[in-house]
Amino acid sequence: MIPRRRLPLEAADLADWLRAPFRRAEAVAADVAAFERAFADLLGVPCARAVASGRDALGLILDGLGLQAGDELIIPAYTLGELLPLLQSRGLRLVPADIDPATYNLTPESVRARIGPATRALLVVHLLGAPCDLPALAALADEAGIALIEDCAHAAGATVDGRPVGSVGIAALFSLEANKALCAFGGGVLATRDAGLLERIAPRLAHRPRREWPAMKKAMIKWCEELLVRSPAYGPLARLLFSDRAAQDFERFYRGAHGRVRPAACAFSGFQARLALRRLRRLAQHNARNNAAWRDTAARLPAALTPQRRDAVGEPAFYNLVACYDGDLRRLRAAALARGIDLGIHGEVMDDTAAMLGDTGCPQAAAVHRQAVLLPLYPGLGERRRAQLLERLARAVEDAA
Ligand SMILES: Cc1ncc(COP(=O)(O)O)c(C=O)c1O
Repeated sequence: MIPRRRLPLEAADLADWLRAPFRRAEAVAADVAAFERAFADLLGVPCARAVASGRDALGLILDGLGLQAGDELIIPAYTLGELLPLLQSRGLRLVPADIDPATYNLTPESVRARIGPATRALLVVHLLGAPCDLPALAALADEAGIALIEDCAHAAGATVDGRPVGSVGIAALFSLEANKALCAFGGGVLATRDAGLLERIAPRLAHRPRREWPAMKKAMIKWCEELLVRSPAYGPLARLLFSDRAAQDFERFYRGAHGRVRPAACAFSGFQARLALRRLRRLAQHNARNNAAWRDTAARLPAALTPQRRDAVGEPAFYNLVACYDGDLRRLRAAALARGIDLGIHGEVMDDTAAMLGDTGCPQAAAVHRQAVLLPLYPGLGERRRAQLLERLARAVEDAA
């Protein structure tokens, strides 16, 4: 079975895991500071703060901007649905704007149509590593006098006109979850060029306890998962868990279990800082290699699959290979499983947040949500294995037709 995702297992990570409980508080603080400095330098912004998760960073940004109940926030109609409760819990009025069917990112036209007198901020996402049209969206936000927040959860290292994503808006959030390029087994980064925003959130960050165990526990769980994915048991298990009957329930269970091991609002740990810094140092190479693999695979997909367009406005950062399939997705998934490929579909890719909010004005997001397929692509999926993937996929498409 070719799995949807694989996690690289690195000896240096294990060494850091073993050392973490014995490291002195000053050494840990120095590692966290070094990571934050290196991250800010990468973006060319004055400051980056390592926090508990991408969601935590987003919540802090909203607080730092002073957004209040009743304020309107424009959000992408196609993004992670789990962000909605976080935004709604603040009493914000969420206004979804539609996406481009090729890049799956917000279009300036749809955003312009949604800006009103109560709009305070625009949240853009660089979806699945594809930079959105930042120059146009930033100009729009400027013109309307609203704050531009960049959701870079998927896109660390991507650039637009040579500028790193996350350095254009007033503030940006990044995710350091296990499946991201800068994996720190949880955690996130808040980057901003606004000293006032930082000052306003400083009291919220000052008294957070620093605990090593939550991220270490998550690493242990993820490493066990990875060993299972690499074992011969994975094929039969995947066929069972991702069968038409079980897939939705399993996705719900998996996301729930993932949520339970999500560290609460505690400070970034030394273990996380060491992992994230190591990955940050090789981020450019990592992205270049994955972008090349992505382009090569996307160019050879069966005709029934149209890959996301990633380089419309800048250099993407590999995240996943997602394509739209103009047919019955469930049949395709079953055929792919039978051929030994694990695919993600519907909400396993991203969510139609407009539909979740009861808004029917975003037809492109609805169409992409209906057709999107997440294909395996990860570091370590070498040329031979990619050729095998493409051959099996071509057969699965024929089987499903
Ligand atoms: C688009 C998007 N934004 C924000 C986040 C939140 O990141 P985290 O899981 O670190 O809270 C995610 C998570 O993957 C995401 O997909």
